[in-house]
Amino acid sequence: MKSKTKNICCIGAGYVGGPTMAVIANKCKEIIVNVVDTNKERIDAWNDNNLKNLPIFEPGLDEIISVTRNKNLFFSTNVQENIAKADLIFISVNTPTKKKGLGAGKASDLKWVEICARQVSEFASGHTIVVEKSTLPVRTAEVIKQILVESQSKYSVDDVDKSFDILSNPEFLAEGSAIQDLLNPDRVLIGGDNKKAIDSLSEIYENWIPKEKILYTNLWSSELAKLTANAFLAQRISSINTISALCERTGANIIQVSKAIGLDHRIGNKFLNSGPGFGGSCFQKDILNLVYLSESLGLNEVSEYWNQVIEINTWQRQRISKLIIERLFGTVTGKKIGILGFSFKANTNDTRESSAIQICRDLQEEGAFLMIHDPKVNVKDIEYYLGSKKINYPQITSTTKLDGFWSFTNDLDKTFHYSDALVIITEWPEYSKIKWELVSKVMRRPGWIFDTRGIVNREEVKKNGLNLWVVGNGEL
Ligand code: NAD
Ligand code: UGA
Repeated sequence: MKSKTKNICCIGAGYVGGPTMAVIANKCKEIIVNVVDTNKERIDAWNDNNLKNLPIFEPGLDEIISVTRNKNLFFSTNVQENIAKADLIFISVNTPTKKKGLGAGKASDLKWVEICARQVSEFASGHTIVVEKSTLPVRTAEVIKQILVESQSKYSVDDVDKSFDILSNPEFLAEGSAIQDLLNPDRVLIGGDNKKAIDSLSEIYENWIPKEKILYTNLWSSELAKLTANAFLAQRISSINTISALCERTGANIIQVSKAIGLDHRIGNKFLNSGPGFGGSCFQKDILNLVYLSESLGLNEVSEYWNQVIEINTWQRQRISKLIIERLFGTVTGKKIGILGFSFKANTNDTRESSAIQICRDLQEEGAFLMIHDPKVNVKDIEYYLGSKKINYPQITSTTKLDGFWSFTNDLDKTFHYSDALVIITEWPEYSKIKWELVSKVMRRPGWIFDTRGIVNREEVKKNGLNLWVVGNGEL
């Protein structure tokens, strides 16, 4: 199928913009796709000849980049020129929770979206379809529309034909499975009120997605559906995590409970894995967005209801930190604790809102020395969260005071040696293959294994004389 769209510009080369545009470019060879970002370092990484240096790690992404980059997919910092050339623009910039001012701590910071809208209004030419790809508060399209409409009169002296349509097309990909999610989504959601614009965007997706999977709604339903989807997913995790604590006290096992309830097709078996609490850049931010929206509409019961999903998430992290300290005789000062995994889930290098951050800070605060391992995370990202108390492990001498310090290693074995405890925070596959017989020989006794993901072989750990705590497992 041919698409009317010839030239796409995506503003924002992040976890959504990069993979999404790579898949569009791969599936729509006749469309030129330009991904622009103001972050030069990120764009350079997208253009790096060595595909191992792409700025984000996503299984399958490097293969798609290798066949599309510099053919019909281009990464650049030239925002102005690429906006001007585009007939369809995706806004795919970050929308984090506001840190200060009105709505601080809850509302989304729309600074970057607003800058984009202004750039589009200034540099676009002819008719341009502007698509909200970022997750946005309900009625943000109105703000974008206002900026674009006002600009029409301001800039129309030079460009009499400048005009815009606005669509909402939220992204539902999950990190770690982004390429599969983009190739085979459960649905594509397009919100808007102009049929011609909707058809133009729909045609792009119809190149590889069956039409019956493309859903059309009004703008506001589309914006709200995205927030609601994330809130429902996060709610399931908080729900199962509350039950994990009950399992630990009653002799039940959360894996058995999850299986038993998930077989009821009205409940379903997805998103029932108990863990250290949900992380990632979006769940908390998007629920806070709902909380803020409900509050500002005077719907206090609604806002309190959703806020509780976040409260339980924080509680789950805190109870894990607390029980680690309690099992290590109430103090971790000067003890070495191996942290296995820092990304917020497996198969991504993303650390945003990872539960590892809170758990590591709690243990640091109590004086532990943390030896952190992660197969994909960049050590600079850990430094951003845990601060400057970083040391280079091999250079430690007997007089080095380790309380509250941390170190990073790519070598998993280094987390085992002389450790008092190991805490599995991310479910990286290599952690479920650890040879506990070897580990037990090099840990300090009594050695503790804290498995927040329920992935270790319980018999193997116990057989080798190590103490074990597994989330939601009351059988230990
Ligand atoms: P990100 O931080 O990885 O990427 C955003 C990029 O936009 C950054 O590289 C930033 O430099 C760039 N940017 C910001 N303002 C710009 C401007 N004016 N001009 C050019 N570049 C600009 O963010 P992300 O994870 O890709 O998320 C983007 C949006 O998608 C958010 O709203 C998020 O909620 C939503 N979302 C994210 C995911 C996910 O898995 N990460 C999934 C679905 C939806
Ligand atoms: C989530 C949604 O799944 C996507 O549909 C959505 O597009 C995206 O947010 C977004 O808007 O950003 P993501 O955060 O990338 O995707 O990853 P998830 O697989 O949803 O995991 C989120 C967190 O929940 C992770 O920390 C994960 O370990 C945790 N989780 C997930 C559990 O603890 N248990 C589960 O059963 C599932």
